[in-house]
Amino acid sequence: MSKAQKAYPDFQDHIRSLEAAGLLITVDAPINKDTEMHPLVRWQFRGGIPEAERKAFLFTNVTDSRRRKYEIPVVIGALAASGTIYSIGMGVDIEAIGKTWSRAIASPIPPRTVQRGPCQEVVITGKDLEGDGKGLDALPVPISTPGYDCAPYLTAANCVTRDPETGTQNMGTYRAGLKASNRLAVRMVARAGGAEGYLHWEKYKARGERMPCAFVLGGPPAVAYVGPQKLRIGVEEMAVAGGIVGAPINQVKAKTVDLMVPAEAEIVIEGWIDTEYLEPEAPFAESHGHVALEDYNMIMEVTAITHRRNAVFPSIISQVTPSESSVIKRVAYEPLFLTHLRDHLGVKGVIRVSMHEPLTNLRRVIFIQMERGVPQTEVWRALYGACSLQALCGKYVIAINEDIDPTNGDAVWWALAYRADPKLDIQTLQHRSVYGPRVERGEGEDSTLLIDATLKGNLPPIALPKREYMEHAKELWERLGLPRLEPEAPWHGYSLGDWSEDWDEAALRAVKGEYLENGRRTAQRCRSDVRPNTSIRKAPRKPS
Ligand SMILES: Cc1cc2nc3c(=O)[nH]c(=O)nc-3n(C[C@H](O)[C@H](O)[C@H](O)COP(=O)(O)O)c2cc1C
Repeated sequence: MSKAQKAYPDFQDHIRSLEAAGLLITVDAPINKDTEMHPLVRWQFRGGIPEAERKAFLFTNVTDSRRRKYEIPVVIGALAASGTIYSIGMGVDIEAIGKTWSRAIASPIPPRTVQRGPCQEVVITGKDLEGDGKGLDALPVPISTPGYDCAPYLTAANCVTRDPETGTQNMGTYRAGLKASNRLAVRMVARAGGAEGYLHWEKYKARGERMPCAFVLGGPPAVAYVGPQKLRIGVEEMAVAGGIVGAPINQVKAKTVDLMVPAEAEIVIEGWIDTEYLEPEAPFAESHGHVALEDYNMIMEVTAITHRRNAVFPSIISQVTPSESSVIKRVAYEPLFLTHLRDHLGVKGVIRVSMHEPLTNLRRVIFIQMERGVPQTEVWRALYGACSLQALCGKYVIAINEDIDPTNGDAVWWALAYRADPKLDIQTLQHRSVYGPRVERGEGEDSTLLIDATLKGNLPPIALPKREYMEHAKELWERLGLPRLEPEAPWHGYSLGDWSEDWDEAALRAVKGEYLENGRRTAQRCRSDVRPNTSIRKAPRKPS
């Protein structure tokens, strides 16, 4: 059978789409992958560049600290430097990403097995994997965090393993550090709610067998995106990727292990993971924003590296957030949380789930935007539901109203300051999983803080001019040629329920220049039986 047709873009099609959209920067100057490459792209995330202006970087002239040159170019940020880049990979508008995930998970399309795939145009095995400049040592694997990381690491890889009991295949994005030209250290999260590959490893270990494994680099974007997505145990990621593109993804049998890999991948690294011996792995700077220190982790003996003739090596920039790693998770996780609360739990009035990204990395702080006026019991169902969907997500969960922008810390503090009463609107929960580094304080668990910072009743309007006055003033501002405005919500007043027609009419008279009429009217309401600061609504009724 000849090479199969594909009904979806592969990774190189995707890079071309990014270029056509002006979202790819090609760097032809020599760049050292060990010291320069990731720090250069890092500036895009630490240099005050808005997300909409972030780009993917293609390095065509890759060198290293041993003054070697690499034939294979490296691309960083091509999967998710921004939501726009991710949406191009998904083949849908940003607004449709959530629905696309829900549809793909609900209606997966199993992969199609083909006999040959571009990912095996070049096959390297045996002695050709051993020694300086061979095997993994011939791949342009960058060092993510020079100065802290102990090795070059694969970061944009989907790790394929098979459940030896059920036969289902899993794909998870796990880091893997180079140890030798044919040896990789693999880190699968072992705690509850961690990596599915780890559960497979435990099964092979119980059988006294080694675990076959394949690292897939640069699969079609839909395949790359299912790696970091948290799917239920036993759900096959390749079928969900098929659901994303609406067609089966082509897969071929790996050359040296009994696993299926995406036929159009750029590079595949095959091998066996030992289930008896573990080896120290890391330091490696992690997505929770600290350096992960040395732990015992798995070791994979590489049996084959296969790749396209013109392969491109993808790398994800992670570590302190925001990063490509947090964008790739944000756009995938937020819609799942929304679907969980709104459709699975049936909580009324949930509008949006927003996971806080800068520095905290999504999992720790979650905001739920709720419609005004939903019963408080629904707000609390949303809070409990959001903190229990995933073991590691939801250390602080805060419910807010629609007018509070969860990405604006000032707005969140505003809601906490005026719409929540700590005595009434806060709960702490115990027995939560630990995520990220932590100073040991005994019990080895974390806890959760839930806050209802929604309006519990009516409040007076926001103290800014009504919208029409601010809009008119903006036109005036622009006519005067003053500096460009970036309106920040709230930028106009609006009612929060506690307002009356009388006050509206008085304000209207004032802007018409008729404040004297207001003065005449209030003069008729003078009284001597109240103290200063008494609300007109609280003053005793006058005898008629
Ligand atoms: C760039 C990146 C690196 C990651 N590294 C790891 C890792 O080293 N180990 C791990 O268990 N999860 C890692 N994750 C998170 C997993 O990919 C994620 O939890 C995924 O849902 C796991 O899939 P699984 O449940 O099928 O194992 C990483 C995610 C990203 C985006």
